[in-house]
This record gives sequence, C-alpha cells and structure tokens, in this order.
Amino acid sequence: MAERTRVAVLLSGRGSNMQSLVAASRAPDARYDIVLVASDKPEAPGLTWAAGQGIATFAASPKGRPKAEFEGEIDAALRAAGVELIALAGYMRLLSPAFVAAWAGRILNIHPSLLPKYKGLDTHARAIAAGDTVAGASVHLVTEALDDGPVIGQTQVPVMADDTADTLAARVLVAEHALYPAALNGFLSAR
Ligand code: GAR
Repeated sequence: MAERTRVAVLLSGRGSNMQSLVAASRAPDARYDIVLVASDKPEAPGLTWAAGQGIATFAASPKGRPKAEFEGEIDAALRAAGVELIALAGYMRLLSPAFVAAWAGRILNIHPSLLPKYKGLDTHARAIAAGDTVAGASVHLVTEALDDGPVIGQTQVPVMADDTADTLAARVLVAEHALYPAALNGFLSAR
C-alpha cells in the first residue's frame, strides 16, 4: 500500500467537504489520512462531526487579538499532529502571507466557481447574473492572493434557467464532494 500523507482540514462551518474527504480516506487505495480538523470557529458544526468520528479537533478564535498569534496557535496544532498537508474546506478567512509561506505548496483549497472566474464570495449569484450556462468548483493550491493559486482540478455542472443562488450552490456542492477527494488523491499521487 502506498504511504499515506497526514492531512489536516481547516473549516469554518458545516464541513460537508471535510466529511467527503474523511469518507474517501477510508478507501484502501487512498493517499491520505485526515489526522486533524481545525477551525477558526469553536462552534463550527464540522468540528462536532469530526470529534464524533474520533478525529482530533482543534479550534482557535481570532477575535480580539493579532492574526499572527491566532495563526501561530493553528500552526502549532498542525505541527504537533504531524500534519504534512492542509486542505481548506469552507475555511472563510484569508491566511496571512507568513502562514502561506510557512506551508508553501502544501495548502489546497476548494472554491465554488470555475476559477479564474468569481474569486471571493457570492460565486453562484455572480454566475447566474452573468448568464453563465455552466458553473462548477475548483481545487487549487493556495498562494498569498485570494483564490489565485494553480488549479489542480475542476468539475462542471449545468446552470438551469430557473436556478437561484441556493439551488445552484446545492448542485455545485454535490460535485465538490466528488472533486475534492479525487483532486487530493491525484495531487498526492503525482508528487
Ligand atoms: C463549499 O461550497 C466551499 O466550496 C465553499 O464553502 C462551502 C463550504 O461547505 N468555500 C468557499 O467559498 C471558500 N472561499 P462545507 O462546509 O459544507 O464544506
């Protein structure tokens, strides 16, 4: 069996992409284990789910203190867990250049648009407003600039004439759940 990479998921909320990463890690030919789920939101539902699965969790709140101090705690937890690669999954906070530099080439993110289109927020509403007939999601390497690093995987879904941002988001999310584990396994296999 190929050696498995120790992966941490960083999230801020629900954690459905984290759940799909965990599920896929249980396949015999998976290239990674999820060894830590960490969050900037102590109340994130994703943390509760992960803890229920017996996965180590960590939360640090950034409120009322320097970003470097907050990120330092996250970094220490990652290193203590022997993490080799970070998968952002609905982590809704921009990482500092210093943090990105410390983990250069070892942070992936999933973003709900066909990058380079629609970096940032409200991706589905913007796709609908633009009259796009195809939407999707991207997995990319994280660099200092928001949603800007090299894309390593994409998936497409159709935009329906009666879509709202919510119905399109739900369709994209299903596609995300297949994309992220496949992109992560592919990235690790290619290394
Ligand atoms: C996902 O749609 C993900 O692509 C998006 O947040 C959602 C998280 O859902 N990420 C971003 O918008 C990052 N800028 P989840 O918590 O259920 O995985």
